[in-house]
Amino acid sequence: MVRFQENFPLKRYHTFGTDASALFFYEFTEARELPEFLNETEGWDELPLLILGEGSNLLFLNNFEGLVIHPNIPGLKVVHEDRNHVWLEAGAGVSWDELVHYCVYNEWGGVENLSLIPGKVGASAVQNIGAYGVEVCGRIESVTGFDLKTMQEYCMQASDCRYGYRDSIFKHELKGRFIVTSVTFKLDKFPEFKLKYGDLAAEVEKLGGPSLWNIRQAVISIRESKLPDPKVTGNAGSFFMNPVVSAELANQIKASFPEIPVYPEAGGQVKLAAGWLIDQCGWKGFRRGDAGVHPKQALVLVNYGNATGREIYELSEEIRQSVLDRFGVELHREVNVIE
Ligand code: FAD
Ligand code: EPU
Repeated sequence: MVRFQENFPLKRYHTFGTDASALFFYEFTEARELPEFLNETEGWDELPLLILGEGSNLLFLNNFEGLVIHPNIPGLKVVHEDRNHVWLEAGAGVSWDELVHYCVYNEWGGVENLSLIPGKVGASAVQNIGAYGVEVCGRIESVTGFDLKTMQEYCMQASDCRYGYRDSIFKHELKGRFIVTSVTFKLDKFPEFKLKYGDLAAEVEKLGGPSLWNIRQAVISIRESKLPDPKVTGNAGSFFMNPVVSAELANQIKASFPEIPVYPEAGGQVKLAAGWLIDQCGWKGFRRGDAGVHPKQALVLVNYGNATGREIYELSEEIRQSVLDRFGVELHREVNVIE
């Protein structure tokens, strides 16, 4: 395990796989080690900081001239249980899909629709990961972390984390300041299955009907059929979020493009499918050098080998502009761009 290193290559520490390095890199495996390290390290608070999980939602534009902190805390532990529920605490460094597998194996429901999402438990609570009709915030009880401003570790209840679509307090006020060390999830012993999203119910039927294992397997098959495997082709999942627009704008677009998928949201707003908008602009399968748009999912930008972070970024900006020009819809990035 790397503890502390200067000029650390990051290529294998993020899923776009572009070349980048960190001026300083620090990895820890127990929450108590972090304050000890910071107390001993003069000048750390004057450096740019980046908290790095598995790097599956990052795009590096340059080498990172600062300190990368990599919380790699292991551990899955049942901390409480009653007739209907289990409270499972997981270290920030546990692989997200390992947690899902563990829950399904133990027949605890709630996160099976989130199978095969890359990344670590720590970032799941920051990003509020979601897929197939489920968002992780619905299963988070509390998030524990270390606050670099107060130099204290504390626990936040999910209701204080201001969760929204791919959003949380950790992306705003607490960004770069609160290092998640563990997350506690509340899971169901008598799960209710969520099968309404897209082809999920049909795929589950093919496997013999609803069960936690079959849902996990169906989600994995659907994901493998359209998303590139980052071990083979560099990518960071959806590059943009699905835009939420006014009903008026959605109706205007629908008048010209009746086939556009729309998803009604609370407050009369409407979510549009960014992948569909980008696809309609003709980008699907586009490639320039080694930067491209995945041929099966236009929302996923890819690195075919030697693309630079900047090339991928420039392509993403062209895509964003073309969607704005054609549909009047502004796309916002899901991927965190690191300057
Ligand atoms: P990183 O990319 O390392 O970091 C992401 C952000 O979280 C950064 O801002 C980082 O500073 C911060 N962060 C990381 N760890 C911590 C911590 N311990 N404390 C505080 N801040 C921290 N996402 C979905 O929601 N749904 C999907 O279906 C989905 N599919 C994907 C498919 C593919 C093929 C890929 C490559 C990505 C996909 N993603 C998806 C995006 C990604 O998997 C998630 O955003 C994931 O939570 C990122 O985890 P990570 O550990 O890699 O975080
Ligand atoms: N579509 C197209 N062309 C494309 C891509 C999509 O027409 O190239 C259409 C599809 O036919 C469908 C609609 O757009 O009608 C939505 O597509 P899909 O079901 O593939 O989901 P998505 O909206 O593109 C979102 C998440 C994914 C998550 C899936 C499944 C966002 C930004 N993305 O994608 O999350 O896995 O739903 O729930 O919300 C991620 O966040 O990185 C990610 C992969």
